[in-house]
Amino acid sequence: MSASAKRESVKARLAVEGLSSGYSAATVIRDVSFSIASGEILVILGKNGMGKSTLLKTIMGFLRATSGSIRLEGQEIANRPPHLNARQSLAYTPQEYAIFQDLTVEENLRLGVARDGLLDERMGDVEAAFPVIARRFRQRAGTLSGGEQKMLLLSRSLVARPKLMLIDEISEGLQPSMVTKMAEVLRRTKDKDGVAILLVEQNLPFALSVADRYAILKIGEIVEQGDVTQAGALATLEQHLRI
Ligand SMILES: Nc1ncnc2c1ncn2[C@@H]1O[C@H](COP(=O)(O)OP(=O)(O)OP(=O)(O)O)[C@@H](O)[C@H]1O
Ligand SMILES: [Mg+2]
Repeated sequence: MSASAKRESVKARLAVEGLSSGYSAATVIRDVSFSIASGEILVILGKNGMGKSTLLKTIMGFLRATSGSIRLEGQEIANRPPHLNARQSLAYTPQEYAIFQDLTVEENLRLGVARDGLLDERMGDVEAAFPVIARRFRQRAGTLSGGEQKMLLLSRSLVARPKLMLIDEISEGLQPSMVTKMAEVLRRTKDKDGVAILLVEQNLPFALSVADRYAILKIGEIVEQGDVTQAGALATLEQHLRI
């Protein structure tokens, strides 16, 4: 590693280096490296099947890292089990709906906090981000609309007050006004609380409206990384995401 890369990874909240993982014999993620600072959003863009969800599941500890390192504020967390990661500052918003349909909104939110009582203290976070969710506290989660369920998913991550949020295609299937709302909430969260956010997306306008930096994942490897504001970024991204 170069001296400047070393400095980068030391001050990073999340530093991923040479990470590989996959399913049984099939390697999906190959030698992936990137870092995210506190208060920064990195978006991983890539077409279907490129390994975006596999990457997030590996960081969260659901899949085994076969090589490489994952450091959170300098501490190695590769292959730490998901429940310990959840307890220690990581919040994961999966791509598939991961709401408990038969539990109430409140009970689903309670799963995001370490102990009873904390949710009451943090309800203001939900009210500020998604008032519609705060109003539906006692409603069965399965009766929420698809968009509301996504808001609930993100609310559950917010009440955990994490240091790092891993968010998998939150904008998928949402109407434009809801996508704008999600962008607002994510920007506020990184600014206000200095959370580092790793966003996985295929929605380019949404990604560009929230992210500070991007990385393009192609067949499990990062082929480009850059700042979203740098000249030519949009053309590069459009070219890589073209079907
Ligand atoms: N449980 C699994 N067992 C074996 N292979 C899997 C499994 N889950 C995913 N894969 C394979 O790993 C590769 C990457 O899948 P992944 O879900 O990470 O892609 P993705 O970039 O998230 O795609 P999408 O945008 O469609 O969500 C694909 O080839 C997929 O078929
Ligand atoms: Mg995916």
